[in-house]
Amino acid sequence: MTRTVYVNGDYLPETEATVSIFDRGFLMADGVYEVTSVLGGKLIDFEGHVVRLKRSLDALDMAEPCSRDDLLEIHRKLVELNGIDEGLVYLQVTRGSDGDRDFAFPAADTPPTLVLFTQNKPGLADSPAAKKGAKIISIEDIRWGRRDIKTVQLLYPSMGKMMAKKAGCDDAWMVEDGHVTEGTSNNAYFVKDGVIVTRPLSTEILHGITRKAVLRLASEAQLKIDERLFTIEEAQAADEAFTTSASAFVMPVVEIDGVSLGDGTPGPIARRLREIYLEESVRTAI
Ligand code: PDD
Repeated sequence: MTRTVYVNGDYLPETEATVSIFDRGFLMADGVYEVTSVLGGKLIDFEGHVVRLKRSLDALDMAEPCSRDDLLEIHRKLVELNGIDEGLVYLQVTRGSDGDRDFAFPAADTPPTLVLFTQNKPGLADSPAAKKGAKIISIEDIRWGRRDIKTVQLLYPSMGKMMAKKAGCDDAWMVEDGHVTEGTSNNAYFVKDGVIVTRPLSTEILHGITRKAVLRLASEAQLKIDERLFTIEEAQAADEAFTTSASAFVMPVVEIDGVSLGDGTPGPIARRLREIYLEESVRTAI
């Protein structure tokens, strides 16, 4: 099926949607993005994604492409036009194009490029992968230092996924100065003696929208949380582990660098958090 996508004010068949070859997103990875999940045809944590988008744009001195209300309307219209029940809406804003290549930013009044498209993912909530749990490898984190800005510079995370795939695993956790930063496209956690451990927020990791919601729900469920640096060895010795992201919600981790966690199946806290998160998300979706 040909998708209807959004480009700079127009809803078009995906085959007819174009941006300039001089677009700074294409030439310089000069752009930011958001991924919002859709359950039951409704958007999960839309406000969180809009707030983070603004934060990314401000950090890079980029103009907002349109208002929050316009963004909501575009998201909803794409979900409707493409008949999405479970899936994702991808949004990208770049610094646009002034018709040439230059390291210096174009004039401040250069219009940004705004692109949105949907991805249909039936079975996103009732995911077989989440029932099995993910196998993780660790790799060095060699990304730039502003990982709190959600830029489209995703080459190294892509390479990390490929390294994991080559090793017969599902994903990679990145390690810097001996401590886990995050997964290639998710935040990382382990659970030991009932305490959930995850790296504190800083410029070294993305401030996950799912992370925020899951930690709030965990604390409401009286679970203990310790935000601190941790090593791969600590995670390997844990009772269980998991990741969070808008595209996979709470994903149990069952193996790290060949070491099985617990009994090698998704742990009870990860399963419970996934359940609570999905319930709450469906209840508050817009
Ligand atoms: N990735 N850390 C990284 C490096 C990420 O790329 C993501 C999200 C997260 C989790 O953030 P959130 O909970 O807001 O989705 C953490 C998205 C899903 C992606 O690139 O497709």
